[in-house]
Amino acid sequence: MQLLLLSFLLAGLGAFAQLPSPQNYFSKPDLMTIGTYYYPEHWSKDHWPKDIKKMAEIGFEFTHFGEFAWTFIEPEEGKFDFTWLDEAVALAHQNGIKVIMCTSTPTPPAWLAQKHPEILMVNEDGRTMQHGSRQQISWSSKVYRDYVAKMVEAIAKHYGSDKRIWGWQLDNEPSHYGQYDYSDAAQENFRSWLKTKYKTIDSLNTTWGTAFWSILYKDFDQIRIPNQKELIAQPSPHAVLDFKRFSADEANDFLTFQYKILRKYISNEQWITTNLMPEHVDVDPTKINGLDFLSYTKYLVAGYDKGIGEQGFRMGSPESIGFANDLFRSFNGVTGVMELQPGQVNWGRFNPQPMPGTVRMWIWHAFAGGNKFVCNYRFDRPVTGGEQYHYGIMNADKQTISTSGIEYAKVIGEIKQLRKSYDPAAVAPQSLQRRQAAILYSADNRWEMDNQPQTNQWNYLSHVKRYYGALKQAGAPVDIITEQKDFSKYPVLIAPAYELLDAQLIERWKQYVANGGHLVLTCRTGQKDRNGKLWDTKWAEPIYELVGAKIPFYDLLPDNVQGTISMGNNSYQWNNWADVLEPMSGTSVWATYSNQFYKGKAAVVSHKLGKGTVTFVGADTDDGKLEAAAVNRVYKEAGIAVAAYPEGVVVEWRDGFWVAVNYSGKPYTFSLPASAKVLIGNKTLQTADVLVWKE
Ligand code: GAL
Repeated sequence: MQLLLLSFLLAGLGAFAQLPSPQNYFSKPDLMTIGTYYYPEHWSKDHWPKDIKKMAEIGFEFTHFGEFAWTFIEPEEGKFDFTWLDEAVALAHQNGIKVIMCTSTPTPPAWLAQKHPEILMVNEDGRTMQHGSRQQISWSSKVYRDYVAKMVEAIAKHYGSDKRIWGWQLDNEPSHYGQYDYSDAAQENFRSWLKTKYKTIDSLNTTWGTAFWSILYKDFDQIRIPNQKELIAQPSPHAVLDFKRFSADEANDFLTFQYKILRKYISNEQWITTNLMPEHVDVDPTKINGLDFLSYTKYLVAGYDKGIGEQGFRMGSPESIGFANDLFRSFNGVTGVMELQPGQVNWGRFNPQPMPGTVRMWIWHAFAGGNKFVCNYRFDRPVTGGEQYHYGIMNADKQTISTSGIEYAKVIGEIKQLRKSYDPAAVAPQSLQRRQAAILYSADNRWEMDNQPQTNQWNYLSHVKRYYGALKQAGAPVDIITEQKDFSKYPVLIAPAYELLDAQLIERWKQYVANGGHLVLTCRTGQKDRNGKLWDTKWAEPIYELVGAKIPFYDLLPDNVQGTISMGNNSYQWNNWADVLEPMSGTSVWATYSNQFYKGKAAVVSHKLGKGTVTFVGADTDDGKLEAAAVNRVYKEAGIAVAAYPEGVVVEWRDGFWVAVNYSGKPYTFSLPASAKVLIGNKTLQTADVLVWKE
């Protein structure tokens, strides 16, 4: 019996072991494939053949069905209906279009919530979310998961060996859009998560510091999810950090649960991903690890991102798509854009028109960052429902193509043309390999600092992106990685605001530097252990030796007061954060504070360690100029040549092609080598335009 069990297990493992490596799901010579969302269930059937034919005529190579269609797939409990979806899949196939199929878990049918209201999530105000929109359910609810399991199994059995289905998307933007779940089911799962982590209540009490304010627990059952809305003063920060970790794990568990069901039935040629919002902190992409690869969704023009210059709000910032590319690609070496804004949206602070050309530029930026596909959101402008005012490829008349549609048609044609110049033997130029950098991103640090920012001007992501932007202006290829990755292949490694760490990480950094790496650490680094406890030593003392400096104190300023720093002949301003440094012997001071009572003290220091260097940048500025100057100096001292692109001009190399895009308000003229062959665009790159060349 045991042997039988073992052979079953091995057979199961074998099936998983045969899964292609994520890169092999995609044809290399196709470079990048472009598709579009379509909702057959939103339109009467007589529209489908015309719509899908039009989709093919524009050049789309895949479509995306079903992520909100649960009620049409299971109109009554246990009665599944795929006839309508079969017709839509058949039409796509007849038109040469592949299909991404979805599990429609964000939108359970009305009958389910009516029968089992306990599946609904409860927000921080104690309000139970109701049927009537999306993502109103608790991933912790066992009842909900039972229904999910049945629906996912049914759709997996139906389409799992269907060659017309390219791959699968689980759920849709899995998250509660910035809210957290405080339902009974979540409370219960949080307590079990804590029991698994701490084993004993004493251990939890010590880590959470519950002696403070007599919080002390006698039993795990006394614990509730820390919720500011039901507390007079602040909860234990350690409890908050654990809750954020738990919530991310719960999202991961929910997705992995779906993945395993699908994988039981679907062919190994079909891939499984989900579409995450790169910057949403509640479901942090770095904590989702059970899928074949991750894809992302991107909306840049919605009144939040000022971009560069007066018209920047029509393009968004270059760091937006860039950061997502470099973060998502680094998980499994492959990624795609599952949703890209087609034009005006409906949900922003204000919803401007993107600058003409921008949608095409975004698609090329996605290409430049290695994406295997870009999927436009969405084909039709919706005439009813919650997203009226949202652009589509087609106008509401379903006859005429929108401005975005015209841009898509153009870029699809260009990519198809580019495929003809693909050279499978192309290798990244040496100059770029030498500049390769990584940024060490940490969700735990982000959660911890969000909870205890210490100044309203602190923003973890903006801090990280100042370094990211500096690297991009230097023309460096960047991977945004987590600690799970090997650092050794990166000549430059930047670990911004790495507040939580342990002796092992410090040791890994030392080894990295000893072997020739150039490590850049920044303010707030090294203050606490992994559970957010301050060291019972001098302030951040565990990193002094590595940094070659002491950090006696930090300072914060009101927003109307500017701190100043001088570096070489230049002066910089800061008012977000300043670690004031005291260099030890052998450490060079690159910059000093030039006002406030600590005028003359070090702000940026650097020293050699083994074959490499460690640089510490103590201040966080608004404009990122100090950060950029420090990063450039690191490269210079290391003898690595870098570029100097103006802000907003991004240049990447991919599969033998150089790609440049321009998010700035000004044209930029490239001086290309004589051997360069321009394939798309012009050496003078205009705003919201694209240049592609080969060297
Ligand atoms: C995305 C979401 C889509 C759609 C879109 C509208 O965030 O995943 O389902 O709502 O926004 O812009």
